[in-house]
Amino acid sequence: MKVIELYNVNKIYGKDIKTQALYDITLNVEKGEFVSIIGQSGSGKSTLLNIVGTLDKASTGSVSINGKDISSLNKKDLADLRNKEIGFVFQFHYLLPEFTVLENVLMPYEISGMKVSKAVKDHAIELLNLVGLKNYMNKYAGNLSGGQQQRTAIARALINNPSIVLADEPTGNLDTKSTREVYELFRDINTNMKTTFMIITHDNRIAEKTDRVIEISDGRIIN
Ligand SMILES: Nc1ncnc2c1ncn2[C@@H]1O[C@H](COP(=O)(O)OP(=O)(O)O)[C@@H](O)[C@H]1O
Ligand SMILES: [Mg+2]
Repeated sequence: MKVIELYNVNKIYGKDIKTQALYDITLNVEKGEFVSIIGQSGSGKSTLLNIVGTLDKASTGSVSINGKDISSLNKKDLADLRNKEIGFVFQFHYLLPEFTVLENVLMPYEISGMKVSKAVKDHAIELLNLVGLKNYMNKYAGNLSGGQQQRTAIARALINNPSIVLADEPTGNLDTKSTREVYELFRDINTNMKTTFMIITHDNRIAEKTDRVIEISDGRIIN
């Protein structure tokens, strides 16, 4: 089953001064695939990921997520799709330092106003166990190391059981050891939950371990 389908996607930023960031991107990703995106700075990687994640809109072309053309969705349905199906991990984790690790993982619930049931809390603790932070759940996020904070952000990205995880240079400011740990964690989740991964990385050691490497140059897929 295809979970991500892009057909002839173009992205042009700006009205008066136009910058074309993507040219005719056609791309399919199957359920459970683990894909990396590589390319020079400014080549269009983040633009592509943000369009897949419905955070940004294609100028022309079509985008389908889990078989659904997203242009048919209104704002609310789009936000629902994003919350339920997609987990985001960014280079800077945007944790709230004054809240505990557990509270940060549960933040998507707090934000959307949903009640945190015991089952949800147990799931959050299970995810913290998976990322090796169960013993840290009541510590303030601000007191954790960079690698631990990024692992907290990964647990947060997984709280709604997304079918797709999108990561934009998730290990960009981590040391070699933490980088490898984050990658191995992604792989475990990919294997155990059949979660589809699309990861932007400039780290070739990570890219070469993924199922497929998509290379972008000047807004075009070249490989
Ligand atoms: N909001 C924006 N407005 C105008 N131009 C943008 C915007 N975001 C990105 N760009 C331009 O689009 C191109 C691709 O950017 P980006 O997708 O961020 O590349 P990458 O993630 O590969 O570094 C660049 O030329 C960048 O300057
Ligand atoms: Mg980028």
